[in-house]
Amino acid sequence: MTSVKVRSARTGDVPAIRELSHLYVGQGRLVPRSAVSYYEGIREFQVAEYHGRIVGCGSLHVYGPDLAEIRTLVVDPASQGHGIGGALLDRLVTMATRIGVRRLFCLTFETDFFARHGFTPMPQGDGEAITPETFAQLLRSHDDDRVPELPFDRLKPNTLGNMRMVRLLPAPADDAQDSITITFEFPGADAADEAQLLV
Ligand SMILES: CC(C)(COP(=O)(O)OP(=O)(O)OC[C@H]1O[C@@H](n2cnc3c(N)ncnc32)[C@H](O)[C@@H]1OP(=O)(O)O)[C@@H](O)C(=O)NCCC(=O)NCCS
Repeated sequence: MTSVKVRSARTGDVPAIRELSHLYVGQGRLVPRSAVSYYEGIREFQVAEYHGRIVGCGSLHVYGPDLAEIRTLVVDPASQGHGIGGALLDRLVTMATRIGVRRLFCLTFETDFFARHGFTPMPQGDGEAITPETFAQLLRSHDDDRVPELPFDRLKPNTLGNMRMVRLLPAPADDAQDSITITFEFPGADAADEAQLLV
């Protein structure tokens, strides 16, 4: 029996993540990214590890109050078809739900794969999509409300000409595993004033 571990990425995984991604950047299937952006975004990444080797990765990039994108979901070609991509995607979907994402989109050529995971194609409105330059300006904007206001089918330009797909997620549950509760009393306060601090 072979087991592959899916876990949060570490900085030491970045060379392997870049190597995997570049397999598909070269084919025009993924958008090229700078080396530093992988380190800046390391907390967005999950990786699949097999005997100490990174054989897959995927990331969750949040844009606004309820909107996020699945990015750079890649499995080493020799390891595909065993459920690794599905496991990475399921984990990213769970993380998205947990933090309050309700609309999760991707830009992909892997439409069958994403459809099996609950994503549906969106109408191609790319004639109306904002340009890469405008998108870059929006990301640098200090006006916090502008990005969430944009209709999300136009939020990110579809520069590779692939399919935009979306999955709607349920509201987050109160997740006891993701918090600790500290109970204490303020000195001199009566019992009714006992404070609970949720971390
Ligand atoms: C999309 C991608 C990540 C899927 O990775 P993967 O590890 O092959 O994914 P899975 O194994 O979970 O699923 C692939 C297929 O294998 C089959 N499969 C899954 N688990 C299986 C198992 N245990 N045994 C046999 N077959 C299995 C599924 O039927 C699935 O079919 P589908 O694609 O029609 O849904 C991979 O093809 C890839 O790297 N593509 C290129 C990069 C890319 O375009 N990424 C998306 C843009 S972000």
